[in-house]
Amino acid sequence: MPVRPGDRLRAAWKPPSSPGAMRPLLRRLLRVSNRSIFAFIFFFSLSSSCLYFIYVAPGIANTYLFMVQAQGILLRDNVRTIGHMLRQYTNKNATLNGTDYPDGTNATDFTAQSTTYLPENFTILPHLPCPEKLPFMHGPQIVNMSEITLDDLDLMFPQDMEIRQGGHWKPKDCTPRWKVAILIPFRNRHEHLPIFFRHLIPMLQRQRLEFAFYVIEQAGTQTFNRAMLFNVGFKEAMKDHKWDCMIFHDVDHIPENDRNYYGCGEMPRHFATKLDKYMYILPYNEFFGGVSGLTVEQYRKVNGFPNAFWGWGGEDDDLWNRVHYAGFNVSRPEGDRGKYKSIPHHHRGEVQFLGRYKLLRYSKERQYLDGLRNLIYAPNISYEKFYKNITVNLVPELAPVKDY
Ligand SMILES: *[C@@H]1O[C@H](CO)[C@@H](O)[C@H](O)[C@H]1NC(C)=O
Ligand SMILES: *[C@@H]1O[C@H](CO)[C@@H](O)[C@H](O)[C@H]1NC(C)=O
Ligand SMILES: *[C@@H]1O[C@H](CO)[C@@H](O)[C@H](O)[C@H]1NC(C)=O
Ligand SMILES: *[C@@H]1O[C@H](CO)[C@@H](O)[C@H](O)[C@H]1NC(C)=O
Ligand SMILES: *[C@@H]1O[C@H](CO)[C@@H](O)[C@H](O)[C@H]1NC(C)=O
Ligand SMILES: *[C@@H]1O[C@H](CO)[C@@H](O)[C@H](O)[C@H]1NC(C)=O
Ligand SMILES: *[C@@H]1O[C@H](CO)[C@@H](O)[C@H](O)[C@H]1NC(C)=O
Ligand SMILES: *[C@@H]1O[C@H](CO)[C@@H](O)[C@H](O)[C@H]1NC(C)=O
Repeated sequence: MPVRPGDRLRAAWKPPSSPGAMRPLLRRLLRVSNRSIFAFIFFFSLSSSCLYFIYVAPGIANTYLFMVQAQGILLRDNVRTIGHMLRQYTNKNATLNGTDYPDGTNATDFTAQSTTYLPENFTILPHLPCPEKLPFMHGPQIVNMSEITLDDLDLMFPQDMEIRQGGHWKPKDCTPRWKVAILIPFRNRHEHLPIFFRHLIPMLQRQRLEFAFYVIEQAGTQTFNRAMLFNVGFKEAMKDHKWDCMIFHDVDHIPENDRNYYGCGEMPRHFATKLDKYMYILPYNEFFGGVSGLTVEQYRKVNGFPNAFWGWGGEDDDLWNRVHYAGFNVSRPEGDRGKYKSIPHHHRGEVQFLGRYKLLRYSKERQYLDGLRNLIYAPNISYEKFYKNITVNLVPELAPVKDY
């Protein structure tokens, strides 16, 4: 008689000595494992898609984690946005148009900005303020991420462009509406600077703003403190010139639209609303990172950035809180004007600031204890052609905070 494979198995399996006691147990085990196999498959696919999402968009995943933990924002309110992101991500065709902010965002100048731009033949006059909507601001601009050197940049902007030491420029054919200091916190990103200037200088010239660049470099071995560098940059810039508008700008963010006007306004402004790394969606309504701008009075009124955020994350959320506690709202550019491309990083592994959740809970109590007013520092300063180099060694003792 031929032996079928099942026979041998059946032969090998011997019923337990007391079948009455074992069967229900076995059946129960089987039933449980049936159910748990389904559960396992379900959770496995769920968690692997979550992991995949975290893998493709670590910034956003992080941001959501942060929002949920720190501010207790109801997940329910964000699900719509997450779903939207996932749809955008999975549907490669989707065009990312128009108003895809989460609810509650009514940028104050949403309508004011959409008036028409001046015609090509419009003549501007030296003694009159430069208009905000100049004909040579055409909108989308091409971003070229090729690495160049500062010498290449010299050739692109020859002497006759009248850029003074420190990257200071002002228009001659009209009176600039804003005197803008661009503050750039910096460490180990030398290859980003020429790419940054290559795009920013022509754009700001087209916008007929007076401007200069301040690169504030953190020396020493402490973890990066973006916020404290901004406070240092602000104080140093104000020694140079009567600036009236401060732009807080990450070096790896390149604007894709020259109608994103880098002037200030009645309200603090958030410029970088749509980052390519966040799939051109505002990650959450309270997002204030990347590029923001405050007038000098606004910045003083909110007591600047907090000094206590060492490492990546949180300081921009704290500034958002400060701005609102001081009675301001935040304005944003309309639609695609807030688009930015990020320069790909060569070095990764910035240290996250895990203590930010705790500090953010005490934003209000800390606002006037920690910021511009309690900061002492000793910089080394040098002038370059396109920027002023302010190098500081930061340690927590430079910004002592009284108990609160
Ligand atoms: C994506 O675009 C292609 C070509 O434009 C079109 O044929 C296709 O139907 C689109 N797919 C979706 C899901 O919209
Ligand atoms: C996106 O905007 C362009 C130009 O304004 C328009 O032609 C297109 O229909 C819009 N797409 C969607 C999906 O709204
Ligand atoms: C936003 O502003 C528009 C026009 O001012 C108004 O119709 C709309 O209701 C506002 N939306 C919200 C969410 O406040
Ligand atoms: C500017 O151009 C528009 C049409 O493009 C024309 O109507 C207008 O008269 C021109 N203005 C001047 C000052 O040339
Ligand atoms: C980008 O810049 C590099 C260096 O200046 C240049 O060779 C290249 O042609 C540029 N690419 C585009 C698309 O403009
Ligand atoms: C800020 O926005 C809120 C809600 O839209 C509004 O009630 C408040 O008056 C605004 N504040 C200022 C200073 O405009
Ligand atoms: C700024 O100056 C310091 C010396 O004080 C130098 O080590 C650093 O490379 C300079 N940074 C930039 C961005 O030029
Ligand atoms: C500033 O320059 C002095 C003299 O060159 C040097 O000893 C010091 O370490 C520098 N400080 C910083 C923060 O780079």
